[in-house]
Amino acid sequence: MSTTQQKKIEELIALREKAKLGGGEKRIEAQHKKGKFTARERLNMLLDEGSFEEFDMFVSHRCIDFGLEKESYLSDGVVTGYGTIDGRLVYVFSQDFTVFGGSLSEMFAAKICKVMDMAMKVGAPVIGLNDSGGARIQEGVKSLGGYAEIFQRNILASGVIPQLSAIFGPCAGGAVYSPALTDFILMNKDTSYMFVTGPKVVKTVTGETVTSEELGGASVHATKSGVAHFVSESEEEGIMMLRKLLSYLPQNNLEEPPLVHCTDPIDRLEDSLNEIIPDNANKPYDMKEVIASIADNGEYLEVQRDYAPNIFIGFARFNGQSVGIVANQPKYMAGVLDINASRKAARFVRFCDAFNIPILTLVDVPGFLPGTAQEYNGIIIHGAKLLFAYGEATVPKVTVILRKAYGGAYDVMSSKHLRGDINYAWPSAEIAVMGPKGAIEVLLSRELDNIEDEKAKVEMLVRKEQEYKEKFANPYVAAKFGYIDDVIEPRNTRFRVIRALQALATKKDVNPPKKHSNLPL
Ligand code: HXC
Repeated sequence: MSTTQQKKIEELIALREKAKLGGGEKRIEAQHKKGKFTARERLNMLLDEGSFEEFDMFVSHRCIDFGLEKESYLSDGVVTGYGTIDGRLVYVFSQDFTVFGGSLSEMFAAKICKVMDMAMKVGAPVIGLNDSGGARIQEGVKSLGGYAEIFQRNILASGVIPQLSAIFGPCAGGAVYSPALTDFILMNKDTSYMFVTGPKVVKTVTGETVTSEELGGASVHATKSGVAHFVSESEEEGIMMLRKLLSYLPQNNLEEPPLVHCTDPIDRLEDSLNEIIPDNANKPYDMKEVIASIADNGEYLEVQRDYAPNIFIGFARFNGQSVGIVANQPKYMAGVLDINASRKAARFVRFCDAFNIPILTLVDVPGFLPGTAQEYNGIIIHGAKLLFAYGEATVPKVTVILRKAYGGAYDVMSSKHLRGDINYAWPSAEIAVMGPKGAIEVLLSRELDNIEDEKAKVEMLVRKEQEYKEKFANPYVAAKFGYIDDVIEPRNTRFRVIRALQALATKKDVNPPKKHSNLPL
């Protein structure tokens, strides 16, 4: 090789090495001291070894204000490109806190937009690793414009390619809205936070004193706001969770999720399920035990585990096929449907529907939660979201009613009337307008008022409740009308669900043509 060419190659290598250092060794050290990895280290963990192809390493900002003309870094604070996860193509961006605190400049935004545009063209997921001080203050409105360019792409990509966000540091101001527009948000415990306005502004405007952690830490968003779908104990764990989540998802809305080889016998009988429902209808049991008993190898990935735990949502596999599970959890608040549970499940149902993931619904629900708190906060509109999501979904929908399916909640939980495809019930199912006690109190209120003797009143109540129970609190009335396709033995649930999913594999269903629906937001 000629010396000139040799020099040029050496220059390239030197430039690459420089770019890899981001904001420099000192800042990398500071990042490590905080218990955080750098942008590149995170990508190394996320992607299959040697698969990363980087774009725009030589991009730098164009700002000449506030002394920035003298300070510039290759890559400009975000590492972008593509690679593979378990051999499947993904586009990625990873914000580099060592460069101006990972703050977003015009060019930084352009780099993210470039990978998003490419991901849309080829139909591959986008994963964003966020660690940023927000808009780059020196760039002013250019930075705001950059955010909005990303938002617009998030919106157009929604329902076309899966978009995953991990928060591994600060995420404040309008910057929170890009992750919020994506499908899933993972937050790392103790090192990440998200809020629209920080503690200082909160103090000035409302007088409230609050720390960053209390305002927008991972535990707040996992339990109170529901913004975070997953929480990790460490960045390594968080990255493994992203990889696992992706394994359940298709590359885009025109593809099916990957089929995994199943080693768990499809006709495995689970005798414990014949005994899991307590004799006393008011006694709880753990729905997660049911899910673990029927899913392939007892494995599932729960989403929003600590938010509205009265409903379970998550992914599992049945005979290797990816399935979204929605299940009432009798262990919490008797599995009642409230505002948070309805919103949580509705969004999940819509995600599954957008990405061709069949939905299995396991029902044990006493109804919607009554009371002023729920009504004033709009349970009507939020409950309608779940109803809407199920009714609109065209993916295969398999439903099993384990115990209670009362009132509107019966309708909502993927009933036959909302285009549920195959609906089963266990013999313990109770399908009726309302629970026996409430029903008798309404039906016989005048008669009961007329009975003066307390003992006689109680006797009548017990007798009538028993009568009601025998008549309505069973699966056979619904089965008589074909609202239930079959009453199945609990231990055989895995097999029946798998068979149902197989039978529905070629299902085609369409909604009337329209610009879009008017979901009750
Ligand atoms: C430019 C920034 C920056 C920013 C941090 N830095 N945020 N540079 N623009 N927004 C720089 C710092 O000057 C510092 O540079 C380096 O990044 C690390 O920051 P530190 O403050 O030393 O780190 P730390 O103590 O960990 O604090 C991190 C932080 C804090 C909490 C994020 O930096 C901070 O509060 N930044 C401002 C956050 C903010 O208000 N952003 C605007 C939000 S409004 P050196 O050279 O010392 O390494 C917004 C609007 C978007 O984002 C709207 C979209 C619709």
